[in-house]
Amino acid sequence: MAKSKLVYFCNDCGYESAKWLGKCPSCQAWNSFTEELQERTPSKVPDWKRGSAQDRRKPSVASDIREIEAISEARLLTQDAELNRVLGGGIVPGSLVLVGGEPGIGKSTLMLQVALQLKNKKTLYVSGEESAAQVKMRAERVQIDPLATCLVLTETSTKQIFNQIEQVEPDLVIIDSIQTLYSEQLEATPGSVSQVRECTAELLRYAKETATPIFIVGHITKDGAIAGPKVLEHMVDTVLQFEGDRHHAYRLLRAVKNRFGSASELGLYEMRGTGLREVSNPSEILLSQREHMVSGVAISAMVEGMRPMLVEVQALVGNAAFGTAQRSATGYDSRRLNMLLAVLEKRFGFRMSTQDVFLNIAGGLRVEDPGMDLSVMVAIISSFQEMPIPEHTAFAGEVGLSGEIRAVMRAEQRISEAEKLGFKTIFVSKYQLKALENTSTKIRIEGVASVEEVFQLLFG
Ligand code: TYD
Ligand code: MG
Repeated sequence: MAKSKLVYFCNDCGYESAKWLGKCPSCQAWNSFTEELQERTPSKVPDWKRGSAQDRRKPSVASDIREIEAISEARLLTQDAELNRVLGGGIVPGSLVLVGGEPGIGKSTLMLQVALQLKNKKTLYVSGEESAAQVKMRAERVQIDPLATCLVLTETSTKQIFNQIEQVEPDLVIIDSIQTLYSEQLEATPGSVSQVRECTAELLRYAKETATPIFIVGHITKDGAIAGPKVLEHMVDTVLQFEGDRHHAYRLLRAVKNRFGSASELGLYEMRGTGLREVSNPSEILLSQREHMVSGVAISAMVEGMRPMLVEVQALVGNAAFGTAQRSATGYDSRRLNMLLAVLEKRFGFRMSTQDVFLNIAGGLRVEDPGMDLSVMVAIISSFQEMPIPEHTAFAGEVGLSGEIRAVMRAEQRISEAEKLGFKTIFVSKYQLKALENTSTKIRIEGVASVEEVFQLLFG
């Protein structure tokens, strides 16, 4: 007999409770609990290869770490250099990779492109959202490698999927998306926390026992309403986030968690009519082409993940027309902007409270690097004073509450990237100069201790 019980799950973190709670004790989210009927058929054996999985298990014994053999398994290299890098050097056999992102951002396109370009490999693309004909239509837009085999399966039951997997024996499995799958072991509806978790657990067991890598696509909405990626993050080996502004062509693929590589890698793509194009030189798209500098524009030598790039920061400062000043930041943390404005007001006497301030990071990128501070500040002052910043000048520095300029990480990389792109001067923290003594560059490195000093040098 099937046993059923009512359980409550936090939609944000997957916390399970026997009764409804207003606030999640685990992630502190309010009003995030939903009720789910959990009905479990007695068999807990995985759907794929019923029975055999547990029989084969040997009792575990503890072993000395020095005696454990390290294995360096050959990674599967995709044709997509950006993806390979974000994964830490290709796909690890038996790894479970979650690709999360908002609907419409391009997850299916990215996955299909991987499948269609994997030379001499067989990929099973499981689509629970689109029909085979729709997948075909998409495939016609992107580049296809004649040596790649891609099989499309439109199915949502994990039992049927494992049946097909056993027959096909693919080298790579893509599940699009996890929210559409259901396991017959549970009564809950597809997309519910318990279903998403159960299906992922089944896929995980399959991946580990057969060393087949699996990509799982998961949707997240802005408010995280759908049960999904958040709940799964601890189960999978790697979490990749696909993000970007839907109105812009550029997309970022970020490693949020990676058991097989750095969690700060970043891939850049451009969405075109013919699918996603890798962007190997990010700076070229993030700097707008113009003859001479206008006021309110500063170039930041920033690092996103491990990648140095030069990004244009645009600020527009003007008299507030209606009493309260407006503040708006696109691609930049607005709290950070407010902090920088407060520093300008309090330490340097600029009357920012009467000014509207608009800030924009070119290219639709969202940046988090604190080394952007200095460029944001000089862009604001440049606009406020209507004085352009000298040409071929880049900035890399964090600004503290007293207006001091702090050292940034990966300064050498920023400097060499700026030099490569033809910049003549770069402003960095004075406290960083000692560490940079041995770097031989043609670019002039200007060490500054405070924001005041920078203003003096730039605007006199
Ligand atoms: P999609 O991969 O379906 O997004 P997701 O799976 O994350 O929901 O694609 C999203 C958008 O990309 C869609 O609006 C159409 C656009 N697109 C292109 O611009 N060029 C292309 O070649 C393809 C295949 C899609
Ligand atoms: Mg999709």
